[in-house]
Amino acid sequence: MVDKRNYCLLAHNTFGISARCNRFLEYESIAEAQAIAHILNISTEPLLLLGAGSNLLLKADFQGIVVHSAIKGIAATTNGDEVIVRCGSGELFDDVVSFCVKHGYHGAENLSLIPGEVGASAVQNIGAYGSEVKDIIDSVEAVNCNTGEVVTIACADCGYSYRNSKFKHEWKNHFLITHVSYRFSKIFQPHLDYGNIRLALAKNNIINPSAEELRQTIITIRREKLPDPKVLGNAGSFFMNPLVDKHFFKRLLALYPAMPFYKVEEAVYKIPAAWLIEQCGWKGRSLGPACVYEKQALVLVNLGGAKGSDIVALCNAIVNDVERKFGIVIHPEVNIV
Ligand code: EPU
Repeated sequence: MVDKRNYCLLAHNTFGISARCNRFLEYESIAEAQAIAHILNISTEPLLLLGAGSNLLLKADFQGIVVHSAIKGIAATTNGDEVIVRCGSGELFDDVVSFCVKHGYHGAENLSLIPGEVGASAVQNIGAYGSEVKDIIDSVEAVNCNTGEVVTIACADCGYSYRNSKFKHEWKNHFLITHVSYRFSKIFQPHLDYGNIRLALAKNNIINPSAEELRQTIITIRREKLPDPKVLGNAGSFFMNPLVDKHFFKRLLALYPAMPFYKVEEAVYKIPAAWLIEQCGWKGRSLGPACVYEKQALVLVNLGGAKGSDIVALCNAIVNDVERKFGIVIHPEVNIV
């Protein structure tokens, strides 16, 4: 078990913010997670459960305990056409996708290159290109922070919705996730209908892609639009795409006929926050060392040396402008601590 005091979290957040925490604990096994649960149980300090820090903005030093999983392992069990892949929560999610594509276990191709770790995938219900991880999660194993008990939670009980789960609300800080089991199929049924996937495939003269070709296409699309955190600190999409009701949507569309949208259900529409932000003139604009990425207005970047408060200032300026212009309050997707 790793146990460090006054620890710098620079290597643990992709925004590249240099903030410290009082104590940093890391578990490599279920037994170590139970030992940490015991420490947490007798502590009164604030707690932050951390994955790869790819969806995190540290506003300032964290006056509390940070806990991270380093549990490794990817193991597949086959049952006919179905394959359950049980993964340590400290594995990189994309290593799981890569492993599955190589072995012919299908269902996660569209989630290629999403940053972050396995444990966080189950908290955040990560998603991209028409797929969400809830569609492939079978169950989540965790240690209860209060009792030290090991539990297995079925996907259906995790309360998943768009970028959301019970782990972010009523179960916040209740569980140390140790493993996630994903369900794959040996039968490849590609999902190509989202956005520009077919167009990107056609560029390479591919109509019926293999799983590997689909993965590589998704990787290429992502690399074109999303900055590499090693070069430019960022946490992917900074805001969630807002949902609006049908009446509001119709009024807005009458004012802005070119507005892109997705129909979520009969009376609910999703508007791309990137479009709202771009319309407010923020794309490519900076506020001090914090900037709206020039190729994707949904991504805020650290131009170098930004403090958490610089990113928050930019975030607030954008939220205010979008509300003033469109009457829509957009909310950060990133966890601001
Ligand atoms: N758009 C603009 N300006 C921009 C960028 C996009 O107007 O600068 C408009 C375009 O009309 C575009 C639409 O916004 O068609 C949607 O853009 P895109 O398809 O790039 O997706 P997104 O809504 O910006 C979401 C996820 C991403 C995920 C992509 C692809 C959220 C918050 N974000 O972004 O997830 O990769 O779809 O599926 O739902 C992440 O969560 O960190 C993330 C990157």
